[in-house]
Amino acid sequence: MEVVITTPPQAASLVADAVTAIFRGRPDAVLGVATGSTPVLVYDELGRRVERGELSLARARAFMLDEYVGLPEGHPERYRTVIDRDFASKVDIDPANVHGPDGLAEDLPAACAAYEAAIQAAGGVDLQLLGIGSDGHVAFNEPGSSLASRTRIKSLTRQTREDNARFFDGDTEAVPRHCLTQGVATILAARHLVLMAFGKGKAEAVHHLAEGPVSAMWPATALQLHPHVTVFVDDAAASRLQLGDYYRETFQAKPSWQGI
Ligand code: F6R
Repeated sequence: MEVVITTPPQAASLVADAVTAIFRGRPDAVLGVATGSTPVLVYDELGRRVERGELSLARARAFMLDEYVGLPEGHPERYRTVIDRDFASKVDIDPANVHGPDGLAEDLPAACAAYEAAIQAAGGVDLQLLGIGSDGHVAFNEPGSSLASRTRIKSLTRQTREDNARFFDGDTEAVPRHCLTQGVATILAARHLVLMAFGKGKAEAVHHLAEGPVSAMWPATALQLHPHVTVFVDDAAASRLQLGDYYRETFQAKPSWQGI
């Protein structure tokens, strides 16, 4: 796991470099997209590169991590709406090639199985963008999630519903209780995982992610089992890292050709 301590704009630029490199080599590659506040700077940067003609996602396929159960189509906080607004509308991807778990399906387990099959049929995810919850969730794999899990229905913790209440006019009760989420094993099957975390509220989760023992109590720690993970944190999110100085020195001395 490579931990890079930097500013959010610098992280966005480095992540956009990695995305650009993948799609220059293979225009129909598969991008895993996350919702929430953290990846928005990356989507803005990808949008600027598309505008300048440096990147095209016209043939890209994208898969979302998760979706609330039961939010109606067009609801501003339904993750499909959020990803259209924050990502798809800013780049040249065909919206028909943006996929997410169907939180409105009558048969939710069947929708989860179909989603797993769709990711596999696309050849798997080349680069997966990830955030992290203050409780250590990755996608919506809350504490206690099986580290071998696949896409399934989960109940959100009170902590996550409180964290996400800011998107629902501060009303925790308006945040759905259930979601469909890629499992931990689904995420680990992607070829490159890029996780970003900014702000003091993420410091404890980031410490566990990079330096704690692998445990279902902090599901993001499962990323330690993946051979290619890049974690971008700002100074505040890095404030509880024991090896912060080492990560800083390592990144400063990194050859520029190496990429992430
Ligand atoms: C979003 C997701 C979540 C978020 C996490 C952090 O698709 O799966 O794991 O990445 O809750 O959210 P923000 O970025 O809003 O702090």
